[in-house]
This record gives sequence, structure tokens and C-alpha cells, in this order.
Amino acid sequence: MKMEAQTFDLKFKLNGKEVNVLVDTRETLLDVIRDSFGLTGAKKGCDEAACGACSVLFNGHAVCSCTMLAAEAHGGSIVTVEGLSSNGKPSFLQKTFMENDALQCGFCTSGQIIAAAFLLDNAEGELDDHEIREGLSGNVCRCGAYNKILHAVSEASRNRAVK
Ligand code: FES
Ligand code: FES
Repeated sequence: MKMEAQTFDLKFKLNGKEVNVLVDTRETLLDVIRDSFGLTGAKKGCDEAACGACSVLFNGHAVCSCTMLAAEAHGGSIVTVEGLSSNGKPSFLQKTFMENDALQCGFCTSGQIIAAAFLLDNAEGELDDHEIREGLSGNVCRCGAYNKILHAVSEASRNRAVK
């Protein structure tokens, strides 16, 4: 049976700004933020919620945008990796990733940073290595930059804890 395309007038907050776009009800959030808004930080890796490359914050929670329908974001708030910086300046966490050289090809990096941002925002005190590994366990790095990612998040956690 052929499914008829249906459109939906989607309104949500994207990186702090109210936005409005007509979407196909079958479109994923990842496709809409990349194709309609040009925010290409979130990547399409597995396209089945298994690698974390497409992670964004939805109402403050890290989610896989590749398996979330865009329409589900209606009335909510989405933050992409681009939204963590302000006026083009990287956030403290983004800077810590750069300073620790916590990437190789960079494909997984935005997802790692979003997952780390969620982890740090919900942590009480300094995170230990086990908690960081656990918190980032849904984010795959095909280059194997795990040690440097761990160091970066650990440093960010330590610096936050002493602030
Ligand atoms: S692309 Fe969404 S989890 Fe892999
Ligand atoms: S840096 Fe290449 S996939 Fe993680």
C-alpha cells in the first residue's frame, strides 16, 4: 500500500531560537536539522540509534535524532553541538576537547560532546573514569580516540568541580 505524504507545521526551539518549518511527518529530526536548518554537526552514522553520532539535546536529554521523528520535537527545545557555543566561541567543553586533541576524523565528535554535556550537566561533583565511560557508552568512535575523549571529559569534570 502506498503511503501518502503528510505535512506537519513544526514549531520548536532550536539552539535557543523559536523556529517553524513544514515537515513530512515521516522525516526524522536529524534530517530536518541538517537539511532544513543547515546544522550539520550531528552526523548520520548508523541511522538506527546504535552509534550516537546524531546526538542532540531534546528538552535537556541526550537523544538520537536519527530515530526521532521531527514532529516529536513540536513545542520542545533542541540543542545541537552548534548551540553549545556562543557567538562563534566554543564552549568550555568544546575547548577542552580541542585542547586534549580528543578526536581523529571528527565524525563522532559532536555526538561525544553532546553526550558529555548531558553527563556533566547531570553530575554531582567530579566524575570518575568509570562514570564517564558508562555515560559515553552509547557513543561509538570508529577511530578509537576513546582515551583522549576520556581525558577531555575528565578534565572538564574536574575543572567544573573546582569552579
Ligand atoms: S546515526 Fe543515530 S545513533 Fe547512529
Ligand atoms: S574521531 Fe573518528 S569516529 Fe571518532
